[in-house]
Amino acid sequence: MTAPTPREKIATDAALDFALKLRRRWTDTIYPHVRREFDAAMPAAYATDAATVADEVHALPTYPWFAWMERGSQKMLWRATADAVRGQKIPENKGPATVRLDPNLKIPAWYTDWDIHVQPGGVWRHDESALTYELGAKLVMLGENNDYKFHRLFIETAIPKREYRRILDMGCGFGKSTWPMKEYFPNAEVIGVDLAGPCVQLAAARASERGLAVEFRQANATDTGLESGSVDLVTSTMFVHEVPPDVLPDIFKEAARVLSKGGLLRFLDFQRTGDAFRDLAMVEHGTRNNEPFLPMAIGSNLVAMAEQAGFKNVRWTAFDERSQGRLPTLEWPKRDEWHFPWAVLEAEKA
Ligand SMILES: C[S@@+](CC[C@H](N)C(=O)[O-])C[C@H]1O[C@@H](n2cnc3c(N)ncnc32)[C@H](O)[C@@H]1O
Repeated sequence: MTAPTPREKIATDAALDFALKLRRRWTDTIYPHVRREFDAAMPAAYATDAATVADEVHALPTYPWFAWMERGSQKMLWRATADAVRGQKIPENKGPATVRLDPNLKIPAWYTDWDIHVQPGGVWRHDESALTYELGAKLVMLGENNDYKFHRLFIETAIPKREYRRILDMGCGFGKSTWPMKEYFPNAEVIGVDLAGPCVQLAAARASERGLAVEFRQANATDTGLESGSVDLVTSTMFVHEVPPDVLPDIFKEAARVLSKGGLLRFLDFQRTGDAFRDLAMVEHGTRNNEPFLPMAIGSNLVAMAEQAGFKNVRWTAFDERSQGRLPTLEWPKRDEWHFPWAVLEAEKA
């Protein structure tokens, strides 16, 4: 594939701009509009279960537009980002970061069967998959996470500041959750693992550009290859909901295995809010955005799963990326626009 011509680049920039603006409009105008329709039609439904309001929500006048725009704008976004990175290669990793690929790694079918987030070919297939994902992730966060302030906020507010010997970031993607870990805990050995070879390659190249000595490995988070008891902190961000519910117990078991006694687990993901409309929007986001395990993940009892794997003091707290990050309880401040119900799963190895 050749790089875009200057003329094609103008068209691509316009398409990126359009996809971003459409997404903003969907978030800050269409979603609150459907919400008002719901509140007017079902004023007493706030605390009922999401599934029980599905028929009524689907019958709201603006809901089909909301639903179409969610999937349609996502498809536009990938088209525009794929065009923008066409012909690019992952930059050469000049160190100090390292990467270890595993050509014999068995990639599970549940991972390759779905084009996650509607990204054609997923994030794992070739170099451009990782580069497309990197650019798309900026747009999905509406351009508000370009310096990864979301991930920094998670680290600063959800992780106790102490000396960690070794930190493991599960499902590290192209590294945006892992680099800030090394910046914040410079004395720790920081390791990111991901199933996607192109992602860990890009993660290492970008870490090196930042001068960060992080180790990236292509590995399944269920089997990281790290020695038992050698890690003091296991993290993940935006990862748990991408794993099938029957695989999640193995993720917790692996986290418990590699952690030392008293070691910490911090997983940033989503939780149900108890607001029927909002929870239904999340469940159906899973379908519209090709995240098939999301509804099951937010419905699973991850606290019990973690306890069974050998963790104690397990609990969820809410996370608000617009204000103080991790909140003391599982309650979110009121916001009108569409946003994820972020939450932090906290636990300690017993
Ligand atoms: C939404 S991304 C999150 C990436 C990164 N943590 C962030 O916050 O930007 C989820 C990542 O998990 C990876 N992944 C999914 N299942 C995995 C598994 N079993 N083991 C390792 N990585 C996995 C995917 O390849 C993807 O890069």
